[in-house]
Amino acid sequence: MADKTLLFHISDIHFGLEDDRALDWVVQEIAEKRPAAIAITGDLTMRARHREFDAACHWIRSLDVPVTVEVGNHDLPYFNLIERFATPYKRFHSIERLVERPIDLPGLAIVPLKTVRRWQPRWPWSNGWVTERALERTLTMIDRLPRGTKVLVACHHPLVEAGTRGRAWTKGGDRALAELAKRGVLATLSGHVHDAFDIVSETPHGAVRMIGAGTLSQRIRSTPQSFNEITWDGTRIEVRVRNIDDVPTAQMQVSEVPEDAMPPRAPGEPVAPVATVPRVDPPVH
Ligand SMILES: [Fe+2]
Ligand SMILES: [Fe+2]
Repeated sequence: MADKTLLFHISDIHFGLEDDRALDWVVQEIAEKRPAAIAITGDLTMRARHREFDAACHWIRSLDVPVTVEVGNHDLPYFNLIERFATPYKRFHSIERLVERPIDLPGLAIVPLKTVRRWQPRWPWSNGWVTERALERTLTMIDRLPRGTKVLVACHHPLVEAGTRGRAWTKGGDRALAELAKRGVLATLSGHVHDAFDIVSETPHGAVRMIGAGTLSQRIRSTPQSFNEITWDGTRIEVRVRNIDDVPTAQMQVSEVPEDAMPPRAPGEPVAPVATVPRVDPPVH
């Protein structure tokens, strides 16, 4: 049996509204536990402002272990549409080589899957979308790995296509999951919803485990700040949702993938009416 591999799965730090206490604690955990790699699954900033990116990139560069970074919907230029369309990744320049970077570990690989778009013909643009091109790129990377390599796929949005209200959360999510199931992917690692989860999704080609990380920002949804500690022993993956207060993992994980990062409604609180005019401000995740 292979030695145990320890990974940290961190998400939604949202510099600009980061939680300093949680971040300091994570830095200490990284120094003590020395994970083999860290997957950061997007939303590094709140509004992709330069000062937020400076802080995010500085923090990430200070991590002395291999890191792969996914792009979140909050990380594309928000106020400067020209830059958003022309050079959407420009603000990542100091950590450019870490963005959507595959990580190879003994017998295990972390492969990126892009789910954000600079625009889409639907609103809000913050929703996920796995384009054919993005999926093809990921599948090609998986197919080129040495035979027998186990795979974790890192993305920002959970690959959930349809919700209870019939909205497409991550367009192309079903197809992506089915293709990942065909290839026996161990799990997807995602963020975006600010609560942790660990669920199994069935596809026509088999099941895929979907692991979500919570947030390290002040924008908590229904659970305190957390990150996932993932252990791979060569046979199975174990997930512990780490948090400063040591709330047990089972209590930190939500049982369904929420629609977004907004806090759940209180019992009895009415469902918000459907908007009759286009929203001007995209919801914040
Ligand atoms: Fe997000
Ligand atoms: Fe987020």
